[in-house]
Amino acid sequence: MPSSSSRPVILTGDRTTGPLHLGHYVGSLRNRVTLQHTHEQYVLLADAQALTDNADDPAKVRRNVIEVALDYLAIGIDPELSTICVQSALLALAELTLLYLNFVSVARLERNPTIKDEIRMRGFGRDIPAGFLCYPAAQAADITAFKATVVPVGDDQVPIIEQTNELVRRLNRQIGHPLLPEARALISQTGRLPGVDGDAKMSKSQGNAVPLSASDSEIAAAVQRMYTDPNHLRASDPGQVEGNVVFIYLDAFDPDVEAVADLKAQYRRGGLGDMALKRRLTNILQATIAPIRERRAALGRDPDAIMDMLRTGAKRGRAITEQTKEEIITGLGLFRL
Ligand code: TRP
Repeated sequence: MPSSSSRPVILTGDRTTGPLHLGHYVGSLRNRVTLQHTHEQYVLLADAQALTDNADDPAKVRRNVIEVALDYLAIGIDPELSTICVQSALLALAELTLLYLNFVSVARLERNPTIKDEIRMRGFGRDIPAGFLCYPAAQAADITAFKATVVPVGDDQVPIIEQTNELVRRLNRQIGHPLLPEARALISQTGRLPGVDGDAKMSKSQGNAVPLSASDSEIAAAVQRMYTDPNHLRASDPGQVEGNVVFIYLDAFDPDVEAVADLKAQYRRGGLGDMALKRRLTNILQATIAPIRERRAALGRDPDAIMDMLRTGAKRGRAITEQTKEEIITGLGLFRL
């Protein structure tokens, strides 16, 4: 159970910009279900961070707080074992962000490679929302407010954790003792799941994602679209396994590792058609997603229960983050009325 345990603390989260998909499932969600048994785990519905590049659509950000919460519960994050918090409900996070911005330079924010990439991808040009440029400081506030030492994230978030630790060292130096712990990024073993089109990243905005609420026919259609080996024209031809999206997915989802190894050998030799391979993957993904989709639908029929869960999470989250904020303000020797 949260709070009184001496388990290592995890803080992780997702921007609430859309329902979660198989990429999230493989990259982080599956891990969280396991980690909640050995860690004190907090999961943030990062609506404030979502707003840093969605200021023109706050309704989307709000709506997806509930969608992502449903995804969490449906995949097995248990609110008895983990604490699910809405970021904007924890005011201490906003206060710490404002404070932390004094301990980082604009030049350092501009140098963050993740931010640089994201600015390019979003085509902000010179019109970068200030909140967006500063979100690593806000994320440092998220992580440190919970005194988290483990942050399970995708590999793209590693520079954000590095910047968090720089801030931790800077703050601890100012405070005069190591009040805040440094955190380490925990990267999923499975790595990143490509989009169904073979693009390096599955993302809703690129239209190459399979959402956790996908129907059987949507799953079948997504698998049909998947890239295999473009030179594998006839079933009897030898085919390439490396970079073959269908095999990457089988590696991520097929529990029968030996069978997949046999299929790879057969594919390389020739004699295994893409259709048969795709049929196998379709069945596996349908079997993976069906129980998630059904739980999600059932949970969605009781919105009051979701709101209660979020209120309980906010209460627990507030207790911890307010406490840390007081310690930091006292540590820095600021005025308190
Ligand atoms: N930046 C993360 C993402 O894009 C979301 C996030 C917000 C987060 N606050 C966090 C992740 C704190 C880990 C810890 O998905």
